[in-house]
Amino acid sequence: MENSSQVSASELVRDFFTDDSDEFIDRAVQFNQLMMKYNSAIREVKTKLEILNDELSLRGESNPIESIQSRIKKPISIAKKLKKMGKPLTVESIFENLNDVAGIRVICPFIEDIYRVSEMLEAQDDVTVITIKDYIKNPKPNGYRSYHMIVEIPVFFSRYKQPMRVEVQIRTVAMDFWASLEHQLKYKNECPETIQIVQELKECADVIAQTDEKMQQLRHRIHCDK
Ligand code: GTP
Ligand code: MG
Repeated sequence: MENSSQVSASELVRDFFTDDSDEFIDRAVQFNQLMMKYNSAIREVKTKLEILNDELSLRGESNPIESIQSRIKKPISIAKKLKKMGKPLTVESIFENLNDVAGIRVICPFIEDIYRVSEMLEAQDDVTVITIKDYIKNPKPNGYRSYHMIVEIPVFFSRYKQPMRVEVQIRTVAMDFWASLEHQLKYKNECPETIQIVQELKECADVIAQTDEKMQQLRHRIHCDK
């Protein structure tokens, strides 16, 4: 059942598009063009990450990246976020106000790989770092750990280049495992069990953090690193 405070998809679409069909088509085209640009930005950043991973593995170092996932934010989520921010539901407003329409998630084996990957990405001269949130050094109260970057990169089109923002989340396999389950809580109605679940999830997050640290130390010992 939809909560009355939530906005339905049809209400949002009604706000977004007017009855005038020319305007509807024009806005739909603009929206598709913007999404195409975000898709291109994802490809640019993903390629940069894949190249770094390939180069390091050729050097005989173990792969710092286990896998890369990406997504474009769904129209309904875009509209809900703009509404929550009190911003207009227009294509221009999406570009101006949202940093996470294009999202990339990088999964690394070890914590130190996260910092290596993020430093190498930051060092590239066409990458501008807009914000960094280090939820590994400063975990969220619920136990969430991950390294978040908003980066801006220029994307080249036929007649111009445009700086596009991409949200990059970098985390270990274990942090990702935890975040996937914790995320499901968002879609669950509150029940008497919820408080207990939140507490146990926090305990799991702490155990995972200790295990990530320990695995990293063991890796160094296996390779006889100082
Ligand atoms: P959003 O408005 O939710 O995008 O958050 P924000 O703009 O304050 O940015 P933040 O960097 O805190 O979070 C961005 C994204 O990280 C979220 O959209 C989630 O994908 C993920 N994330 C942040 N906090 C949590 C958390 O507590 N649990 C899980 N599972 N994911 C989280
Ligand atoms: Mg988000």
